[in-house]
Amino acid sequence: MNHFLDISRTDPSDLMSIIEGARRMKAARGGRPKAMPDDDTPLLGYMVALIFEKPSTRTRVSFDVGVRQLGGQTMTLSGNEMQLGHGETVADTAKVLSRYVDLIMIRTFEEATLLEMADSASVPVINGLTNRSHPCQVMADVMTFEELRGPIAGRRVVWSGDGNNVFASLAHAAQRFGFDLTFSGPEALDPEATLEGMYRKERDPIQAVAGADLVMTDTWVSMHDPRSARERRHNQLRGYQVNAKLMSAANPGALFMHCLPAHRGDEVTTAVMDGPQSAVFDEAENRLHVQKAIVRWCLGL
Ligand code: CP
Ligand code: NVA
Repeated sequence: MNHFLDISRTDPSDLMSIIEGARRMKAARGGRPKAMPDDDTPLLGYMVALIFEKPSTRTRVSFDVGVRQLGGQTMTLSGNEMQLGHGETVADTAKVLSRYVDLIMIRTFEEATLLEMADSASVPVINGLTNRSHPCQVMADVMTFEELRGPIAGRRVVWSGDGNNVFASLAHAAQRFGFDLTFSGPEALDPEATLEGMYRKERDPIQAVAGADLVMTDTWVSMHDPRSARERRHNQLRGYQVNAKLMSAANPGALFMHCLPAHRGDEVTTAVMDGPQSAVFDEAENRLHVQKAIVRWCLGL
C-alpha cells in the first residue's frame, strides 16, 4: 500500500512510472466519451472517498471521472457535512472510512490533518492539496511539459508570484525530475525555509525569466490566506504579473502554466492565458490522466 502525500516523499522511479502510465492511459482512450470505461478497469469493485474541506472544481471532477474510467466508484464528502467538521478526530475518521472504502483522497488546510489521516488509515491516502503542497497538480504539470516539449530534466522553469503550496510541490519536483527552478517574487512572500537549496531566487521578474522554457504562476491569494491580506498581497505581487512583456523576455518557445483557477488581470493577463504559449487547459486535462496513474500506483494495480 502506497500513500501519495508529496512528491518529495515519493521515489523518483515511481514518479516517472506514474507519468508514463498516465501517458499510456491517455493515448489508449482516444476520443471516447468521458464516462466510457478504459479497456482496462482495474478498479472494478473499488470505492474511493473524495473529501473536500476547501472548494474545488478540477480536483473534484478529475478524480471522480478518473476513478469511474478505471471501473471504480466514488463518493464526494464535504468536510462540513462530516462529523470530522464537528469534532470527530481525524484518526477516528480515517479508521472508520478504511472499513468502507479502498482509498481516500483529501483536500484540507493543515498538513497535519493529511499526515494523521495517512497514519491512521489502513487504505492509501492521496494529498489533494494542503496549505503546504499540491503534488497531484505538479505531476500533471510535469506530464504536460514533457508532452509538449520533451524531457523536463535540465530545462529552465521560472515561477513569478507567491511562494505558495503549488510552488512547494514544484520545488520538490525540481529535485526529483532534475530541472532548474527559479523563484521570482517579493521577499515577504518567499517560499518556506525548508525549500531552500531546491531553487534559485531572482527578485527581478524580467531577469528571472531570461532563458526560461516554462513560466508559471498561481493566484495571489490562496484559499487558506486570510481575506484581509488581499490588498497587501496585490500590492506586493503587482510587479510579478505574467503578461506579454514578461513572456517576451523568456525563450521564444516558452510555455505558460497556471494550475487554475486564474484571476485574469491579476497574476496573468487574458492575452497570455489565451495566447499560443499557454498550456493551462492541457494541464487541467492531464490532472485526470495523472491521477488515474497515481490511484493505480497507490493500490498496486
Ligand atoms: N488546480 C486545482 O487544484 O483546481 P481546483 O481547486 O479547482 O481543484
Ligand atoms: N494556491 C492555490 C491553489 C489552488 C488550486 C490555493 O491553495 O488556493
